[in-house]
Amino acid sequence: MKKWMQFLILMTSITSTSALLASGGIDGGGGNAMPPATNAKWKTECSGCHMLYHPGLLPERSWNKMMNGLDKHFGENATLDAATRDEIKRFLVANSAEKSTNRRSNRIDQSIPSDATPLRITETRYFTSKHDEVSPLTFKRKNIGSAANCIACHKNAEKGDFSESQIRIPR
Ligand code: HEC
Ligand code: HEC
Repeated sequence: MKKWMQFLILMTSITSTSALLASGGIDGGGGNAMPPATNAKWKTECSGCHMLYHPGLLPERSWNKMMNGLDKHFGENATLDAATRDEIKRFLVANSAEKSTNRRSNRIDQSIPSDATPLRITETRYFTSKHDEVSPLTFKRKNIGSAANCIACHKNAEKGDFSESQIRIPR
């Protein structure tokens, strides 16, 4: 093969590999964020008391149950008018864990027994197994608060990005 041809082939393969990495096509070291999903009402109504939880973090049946019981939402009354509630519910369901192609979403879904409908991500077996090395005392630190405050340690949590390279536990 001519030298210039070898060079051309080499350059083409480098370019396509980095394009794949950038698009998240190859899971380079635990990357691959959940696909972007957004809805204006969800952003406004579900971020007042805590961070925004990406819809890919729970299965459809969990979102349905949660949205049908907002009057008793973890000890709070988070009731919405019916139209807003239904729009947010549709958005969450359409982007739920089992509808996603994301690896972490699929593992969360698979870790939940088929007869269970958890309302907490933090109670799924996937979550507890991934955090078994984080002590309960760490979660209680002043600038963390609880395990549910993902964004304290995963700065891109609201984008559904839980890449290992992005984890930083505040002191
Ligand atoms: C009035 C305040 C309030 C509003 C509004 C609210 N939440 Fe919550 N939410 C809470 C509280 C309090 C908890 C429990 C937090 C904890 O244990 O640290 C919670 C917990 C959660 C959890 C479980 C987190 C875990 O432990 O894994 C999810 C999921 C959730 N909320 C989703 C939503 C969605 C979706 C909406 C919008 C429809 C919403 N929340 C609106 C107060 C609220
Ligand atoms: C106190 C900091 C902290 C909080 C809060 C936290 N995490 Fe983590 N998380 C970690 C650490 C540390 C690891 C890495 C464990 C390892 O590398 O073995 C991890 C790992 C993960 C992973 C696996 C990454 C991978 O592929 O290996 C996911 C997904 C994840 N966390 C999601 C969440 C979600 C969702 C929440 C909130 C409901 C959350 N985390 C809250 C510290 C935290």
